[in-house]
Amino acid sequence: MMRKTLRALVGAFVVQGLILTAGCTMKPVSAVDTAGNIDQKLRQKLAANNMKAIEKPQVDPAKAELGRLLFWDKILSGNKNISCATCHLPEAATSDALTLPVGEGGVGKMTNRYPAKEREAEFKFVRRNSPDLFNRGEFLTMFWDGRVMKRKEDGSFLAPFSRELPEDHDIWSPANRLLPKGLDNALAAQAMFPPTSVDEMKGLSHATTLGKLGDHERKAIWSELINRVLQYDAYRQMLAKAYPDVDPKDYSFVHAANALAAFQIEAFTLTDAPFDMYLRGDDNALSEAQKRGGLLFYGKANCASCHTGYLLTDQVFHNRVVPQLGPGKGALPGGGADGTWDGGRSGVTGWYKDAYKFRTPPLRNVAKTGPWMHDGTFATLESAVRHQLDPIASARMYDPTLHLAKRYQETFHPHQTEEIISYAKKGGEISVIKLTDSEVSDLVAFLESLTSPQVDMLPYVTPKKVPSGLPVED
Ligand code: HEC
Ligand code: HEC
Repeated sequence: MMRKTLRALVGAFVVQGLILTAGCTMKPVSAVDTAGNIDQKLRQKLAANNMKAIEKPQVDPAKAELGRLLFWDKILSGNKNISCATCHLPEAATSDALTLPVGEGGVGKMTNRYPAKEREAEFKFVRRNSPDLFNRGEFLTMFWDGRVMKRKEDGSFLAPFSRELPEDHDIWSPANRLLPKGLDNALAAQAMFPPTSVDEMKGLSHATTLGKLGDHERKAIWSELINRVLQYDAYRQMLAKAYPDVDPKDYSFVHAANALAAFQIEAFTLTDAPFDMYLRGDDNALSEAQKRGGLLFYGKANCASCHTGYLLTDQVFHNRVVPQLGPGKGALPGGGADGTWDGGRSGVTGWYKDAYKFRTPPLRNVAKTGPWMHDGTFATLESAVRHQLDPIASARMYDPTLHLAKRYQETFHPHQTEEIISYAKKGGEISVIKLTDSEVSDLVAFLESLTSPQVDMLPYVTPKKVPSGLPVED
């Protein structure tokens, strides 16, 4: 009660102060009045949601520099034809501007990238949309299905194929048992995997030592990779600088992975989005429309129930009835007759209750990271937002010709939609939120306030050349 009165008093004072200033600039009193109120309301909501601005974790510059060159060096791929940056390009806001990536063997860049002729029949697209890599330093989960996850208590990692079963449950889980010690964070654990994937980086060719190894022969792949890196003087010197206490004979791919993580944290933690400036106290950082959108996000539109906390994600898995397309994962439960289903989280846990659930994405810089959703289904931010407001109706109305380039349209699976809806209804998490068109555009304006002005300058981190001498560009 006391608190309320105080707040009302402070409010009245602020409003009066504004009216006085407004007198000079001849603004209508009522408009100023609302402006004062909107900041007060929004700041109350932000405080209730424990919101704070993004901060950048400390990173060792020597590690980050090593990671930067590795991120662009195709030496980490079996056929030396693809790097991390092929699918996570600064020009495409750390994604690749594609619905689904064109992986190993592909030719070209972003929307001009096409599969290799010799692999076209067997493999056109990677199975999921390439996510952005912003602010991942503190994340505990990696991937759309969280199949790499840091356990809070002891810092160990759950890795692909490990299931959330009781600790003492003896399940054969190759990666879980193989993942070496010494990884700095979940981001570093993630970096152990792309080079082991036949579609992403490893490739099939039997002409290479890596190509001959199966995806599951991870230990052998990692040791082959670090041997490749160690062929180059420049990398040996950089490793020595980044890890002065490590004996060179003990270098392993873990050191490369930690460096890749350090680079991503250093380059892709952007702390100056207008929303973050607002969170630091600058009332002028957001436009009126963005503030109205913020009130909806943290209020009536209920977005913050999943896009929670300062990372804007609960890092939990939800079925948002996203229409399915692409090769799928063949994962539980709907491995389906044709294998084109993507069960999402259930593929990791083996539980039907997790069917079609994907991790809540973190939304910073989201206006720049399209196409959106785990399979790149939506081509505009507004359509992604409208989907979130009424997922079932949006899924039923989904028209691939409005959202997908022709080569993706033919991979759309309309027959899967009702099955996903039936799981969503059982899960009981879907509600319909009715907003006017102008409210939707306010919500989109709010999402645009999450974009750091640095996103457009990011290409500056691209190295001119890398130690292997392989081409940096695709
Ligand atoms: C062929 C394209 C491709 C290449 C090459 C690639 N990635 Fe990715 N990356 C993806 C896709 C697709 C996903 C999502 C996969 C999933 O969730 O199942 C992903 C996920 C990630 C994530 C998880 C982000 C999150 O929040 O869940 C990180 C981090 C990442 N990649 C970093 C890297 C690094 C580092 C490399 C190089 C060692 C790399 N990627 C190479 C396509 C690629
Ligand atoms: C019940 C949890 C939940 C709620 C509520 C929710 N979201 Fe999401 N959101 C998710 C999940 C999970 C995804 C990814 C779904 C997928 O790809 O299958 C997602 C995806 C998105 C995307 C695409 C992001 C990307 O990187 O591809 C946007 C944009 C988005 N949500 C905005 C919103 C807005 C705006 C609201 C409020 C109207 C909202 N969400 C409400 C969980 C939620």
